[in-house]
Formats: sequence, structure tokens, C-alpha cells
Amino acid sequence: MIDSPVLPFVFGEPLHTERLTLRLMTPADTDDVYAYQSREDVCRYLLFDPRTRDEVATKVAEHSRATTLEMDGDYLQLAVELAATGDVPGRVIGDSYFTITSVENSHGEIGWTLHPDFAGHGYAREAAAAVLAIAFEEIGLHRVHAELDPRNHSSVALCKRLGMREEAFFVEDMYFKGGWADTGVYGILRKEWVGVNS
Ligand SMILES: CC(C)(COP(=O)(O)OP(=O)(O)OC[C@H]1O[C@@H](n2cnc3c(N)ncnc32)[C@H](O)[C@@H]1OP(=O)(O)O)[C@@H](O)C(=O)NCCC(=O)NCCS
Repeated sequence: MIDSPVLPFVFGEPLHTERLTLRLMTPADTDDVYAYQSREDVCRYLLFDPRTRDEVATKVAEHSRATTLEMDGDYLQLAVELAATGDVPGRVIGDSYFTITSVENSHGEIGWTLHPDFAGHGYAREAAAAVLAIAFEEIGLHRVHAELDPRNHSSVALCKRLGMREEAFFVEDMYFKGGWADTGVYGILRKEWVGVNS
């Protein structure tokens, strides 16, 4: 008998971490999101190619309406905002993705993207930890996994920093951006998350 996840989960008020705010995207975020989603280096291991501003505007509008996790495939794509400091205004520096992959198996998937100008400060980890806290402590999921291209060393390192373990390495399972690519799967269980964070 498994504990059923507590669903639906509606993302309402912004979530404040030590240095960041996670919130639903709004159309006003389009320029900030375009600043990183238009870059070749950012998209190297993402499933999409660099986007035009119009494409980003369409996606941001879609994401702004994705507020509720209830069924398989429901997702959140939260803006990760760095607060203003002095004369520097606050801005969206990346986003955190989370989806319910199986309600029946109490299972979700996490993902992340950061503007390179803001990498190397632990911001992606801080945002991902807040999302895992929602997944395990509020929704009560059993397991969360991340999928990545194993050549994406910064993403692999982030999984490990979050306490996720390598669970699979699929060899050339995907034709991706002009060549065969491997897929790495990293996972963490609720009891492991609670163990590390209690
Ligand atoms: C994957 C990605 C989000 C990782 O970003 P990141 O900034 O390296 O990740 P973290 O937030 O964990 O930051 C870790 C780095 O910050 C450093 N750091 C500095 N201050 C820190 C702090 N206060 N807390 C934690 N880490 C800190 C760490 O030492 C580490 O540095 P290192 O990379 O030199 O070892 C980013 O590379 C990215 O957006 N890539 C493009 C999109 C992409 O590929 N997404 C994933 C698809 S699977």
C-alpha cells in the first residue's frame, strides 16, 4: 500500500528561498527568459533549439497558465528570480521545471536552466532544493528523477549535490541534435530526501 500523493497541488504564492524567489512566470518575464533561451550554449543539452523572442513569448504565456499538478504530465515551469540589490533591479535568471510523471507510482521529474551569467553561485541548487521540498514534503511523492545528457557535467554535478544517485545510463538511446546521444537518469526517494534534510 503506498501513500497517495497529496494532489492537486496548486502553485499560488511566490516561494522565497535564502536568495531567490520562485514564482509563476508572467508575460513580463519574456525578455529575461529570452536572454538565456536564445543562447546556443544554454540549449546545447536542452530538448529545444535556441528560441526567437516570439517563441519565448508563446512559451512563457503557456507556462504562466500551468499552475496545477494533478494528473500525469501536469507541470510547473517556475521563474527563478534574483532579488534586486542596490541599483541592480531584480530579474529572472532561470527556471525550475517539475512534472508529475506518474500519480499511480507517486513519481515526478525535475529539471533546471540558468542564465550562464548567474551560474556558479549555487542558485540552481537552491531553486531545485525548494522544488524537491514541494515534491516530497508537500505533495509527498515517493520518487523524483532527472534525465540528462551525461556530457552535461554541470547538470550531473547538480544532481549529485542534491543527493540524487545515478540509476541508469542508456547508451545512444536518442538521436539528438545531429547525433546519437546517451541518457543519464538520476533519482532520489522521499526517505532519502527527508534523511538528508531533517
Ligand atoms: C545545469 C545548470 C542549471 C547548473 O548550474 P550551476 O550554477 O552550475 O549549478 P549550482 O546552482 O549547483 O551551482 C554550483 C556551482 O556554484 C558554486 N557555488 C558558489 N556559491 C555557492 C553557494 N552559496 N552554494 C552552493 N554552490 C555555490 C559551486 O561551488 C559550484 O561551482 P562549480 O560549478 O565551479 O563546481 C546550468 O549549467 C545550466 O543552466 N545549463 C544549461 C541548461 C541545461 O543544460 N539544463 C539541464 C538540462 S538536463
